[in-house]
Order: sequence, then C-alpha cells, then structure tokens
Amino acid sequence: MRLVLFGPPGAGKGTQAKKMESFYSATQISTGDLLRQAQADGTELGVRAAEFMREGKLVPDEVVVGLIEEKTAKLGSNRGYLLDGFPRTIAQLESLQEMLERNGQTLDGVISIEVPEELLMERLCGRWSCKGCNSVMHERDFDKSNKRVCISCGSENIYQREDDKPKAIQQRLKTFEDQTAPVKAKYGELGLLAKVDGVGSPDEVFNRIKETLK
Ligand code: AP5
Repeated sequence: MRLVLFGPPGAGKGTQAKKMESFYSATQISTGDLLRQAQADGTELGVRAAEFMREGKLVPDEVVVGLIEEKTAKLGSNRGYLLDGFPRTIAQLESLQEMLERNGQTLDGVISIEVPEELLMERLCGRWSCKGCNSVMHERDFDKSNKRVCISCGSENIYQREDDKPKAIQQRLKTFEDQTAPVKAKYGELGLLAKVDGVGSPDEVFNRIKETLK
C-alpha cells in the first residue's frame, strides 16, 4: 500500500499514521520527523531547514523531495508506505508522480483528514512529543496527578515543538491554505482523494479510515 495522508497542521496525520503502520504493515514517512531528526543530528540539511520550520514556512522542495527519494529507496520496492506531510506543493506532487513512474509504481490513494480550523489551534497548543519512543500526545491525555510523562513509554523526556507556538501555528495554517490546498484539489481531479472526518477520538477517526480503505 502506498498512501498519502493529507491534512492541515494538527489534523492528526501523525497520530493516524502510527495506528495505520502496524494495521497495514506499511511504514510512516513523515517529512516533518525527518527534518527534525536532521536538525537534532546537526546536519547541513537540518541547519538549512531550521529557520523555515521555526517560522512555519515550507522547506524548499528539492530538500524534501531528496529526503523522500532517499527514504523510499531504503525501504525497497516491496514495502508499502504512508506519506505524512508530503507532498505539500504542486511541484512536490509532480516529483512524487515522476518517482513512482520511474519505479513502475502507483499511488493507491490520498486520505484527507478534515478538521475545522478552530480545533487545530487547540490540538497544536496542547501537543507533546516523546524523545524516547516518538509518541505524540495531548495535554488532556496526562493523568490527573499532572505528572507529565509519556503516555506510551513513561519517559519524562517529553517536549513541545518550537513551531507549536500561536504565531508559528498561524503562519503554518496560512502556508497550508496558500501552498498546500492546491495539492488536495489536484488529487481530487486525479480521482485519488478520499475525505475522512477527523473530528472525534483518534480511534473513531482510525475506524473511518479503515472503512474508507476497505
Ligand atoms: P510537520 O511535522 O509535518 O507538521 P504539520 O503538517 O504542521 O503537521 P503536524 O505534525 O503539526 O500535525 P499532524 O496532522 O501530524 O497532527 P498530530 O497527529 O501530531 O511539518 C513541520 C514543518 O516541517 C512544516 O511547517 C515545514 O516547515 C516542514 N515540512 C514538513 N514537510 C514538508 C514538506 N513536504 N515540504 C516543505 N516543508 C515541509 O496531532 C496533533 C495533536 O492533536 C496531538 O496533540 C494529538 O494528540 C492530537 N490529536 C490527534 N488526533 C486527535 C483526535 N482525533 N482528537 C483529538 N486530538 C487529536
């Protein structure tokens, strides 16, 4: 299975990708995670990407396309993948098409997770991530003792993303409308787009995705 998980910042792409990975035996490829890893490793690419990400702007197309080509090549042709956060521009969409054609492959579909804008801010401002196991959670998931530990592995090494501050979130939402929304329209024209209601618990949304993919 080769799928694109599409949606605005905070729609739940990463949350759903994690659930889908084991259910569909496919690998999540998140360009955001790859770029954050490059930053943590202090690579030249990571340093180049940092400023764009901090400001909620898109990293140049050639950087992310290169990351996707490298990562998919490492997976091998038999392993399915879930693209989380890619493509985000028409140029990226075209590069993906070319890459698939070169490899004699096709895209099975695009799941667009639909969430109204007023919910996105609340989801992003309350997001925490774990450095230990990479899980993503929300403030409301912590137990009543108010002790902030990872809800999956118990690690205290959890953090809030630098781009989850209100000003950066506003810019990310604007970037999405200006540069990424046309990708959704294009996949609609190509007959590959399926919309899924992203409001409700993560399990409810996952059940809708499974129904859609049946
Ligand atoms: P990236 O990391 O991809 O960020 P994003 O697209 O803004 O998406 P998020 O990770 O913020 O949200 P999500 O939809 O995965 O939601 P999540 O599951 O975490 O990109 C970051 C930056 O990298 C970009 O701004 C850009 O600079 C750069 N970049 C990345 N890809 C690029 C590309 N292709 N081209 C150029 N630049 C690129 O959930 C969010 C919160 O909501 C969590 O707290 C979660 O617990 C909660 N939640 C999830 N589902 C539900 C639910 N159903 N109900 C209630 N809460 C929920």
